[in-house]
Amino acid sequence: FSCRRQNMWKYREFMPVDPSKIVSLDEGGTPFVRCDNIGRKLGIELYVKVEGSNPTGSFKDRGMSVGITKAVELGVDTVGCASTGNTSASLAAYAARAGLGCVVLLPSGKVALGKLAQAMFHGAQVLSVRGNFDEALEAVTELALMGELYLLNSVNPFRLEGQKTIGFEIVDDLGWESPDRIILPVGNAGNISAIWKGISEFHRAGFIDERPMMTGIQAEGAAPVVEAFRKGKMEIDPVKNPETVATAIRIGAPVSYLKALRAIYESDGYAETVTDEEILSAQKLLARREGIGVEPASAASIAGLLKLVDEGVIDRGERVVCVVTGHVLKDPDTAIRASTEPVEVEPDIDQLRSVIRRKRT
Ligand code: F0G
Repeated sequence: FSCRRQNMWKYREFMPVDPSKIVSLDEGGTPFVRCDNIGRKLGIELYVKVEGSNPTGSFKDRGMSVGITKAVELGVDTVGCASTGNTSASLAAYAARAGLGCVVLLPSGKVALGKLAQAMFHGAQVLSVRGNFDEALEAVTELALMGELYLLNSVNPFRLEGQKTIGFEIVDDLGWESPDRIILPVGNAGNISAIWKGISEFHRAGFIDERPMMTGIQAEGAAPVVEAFRKGKMEIDPVKNPETVATAIRIGAPVSYLKALRAIYESDGYAETVTDEEILSAQKLLARREGIGVEPASAASIAGLLKLVDEGVIDRGERVVCVVTGHVLKDPDTAIRASTEPVEVEPDIDQLRSVIRRKRT
């Protein structure tokens, strides 16, 4: 038997790039973990797709591998993006590997520490924009249209071509079956669109008979897609000043909203909001019950799961896959703030014995 998981290029026939030019860091092939500690309590069959295990710690690496491969094919010299953090971290790494220039525009003061460290350390030119993500994206799009750089936000369709492999892998991980439902956080709305594309390609190819209900979760303070879903509309009203502890999805005008809404409606799926408190409590639950450490935005999928089971939207016995999109170390500040401080002690056995807590069963 083979004990090594294959990376996402296992599905290279489905990827529209020159296979001789692939720029890869061995992305994809991420863990698919059955989570009975949480699932059994909810009366469902729960799996978690752990995208924090990608090379730079988020699902963005799948899209960047394809996007940078295309940039190399096209012969561009400089790539760029606006980002709430993860896209910039990933782009910086893949651009470095391909020897391309890299410019990233980040909303000033709103990017988690780990992501900022990555973008800087991989050698990107980091521009801290006085404004939010939506404003930074508008600016970088203009720069791209002027020919200053090749844009690698998820408006670039090659990004979605990479991220659709999450859909491929979920089907593959389940033994070539579709789950009943896929739940994931929605920010700029590229990933839900990409996963639906992957699922639909496998469906058309005849690999699966059914397709899952695509279920998008947004933070209450940044939920234009959920608002549109509630009204049954195909248009969003952009949120002017989006706000949430989950800075990765602090987005008011998601570019791929139309594709996302189509995915949700076509799949008979759902969209729901969660509060910051629900996000932080789900993040802790996943870390402490299942041993899976994710950043706040990723925990929105778990928070959404809990809420939808509670509301009766999710039926007992459903087979649910939650995609957790980024690693806990991306945002160490939030993790530390949510934990109890270490106890300072002398290396003295009596003192140590008096303070240690054993788990008694
Ligand atoms: N989860 C994480 C950890 C993210 O970083 C993002 C998006 C999302 C979920 C939402 O995915 O935008 O495809 O709907 N982060 C982008 C960035 C915006 O710049 O890193 P989406």
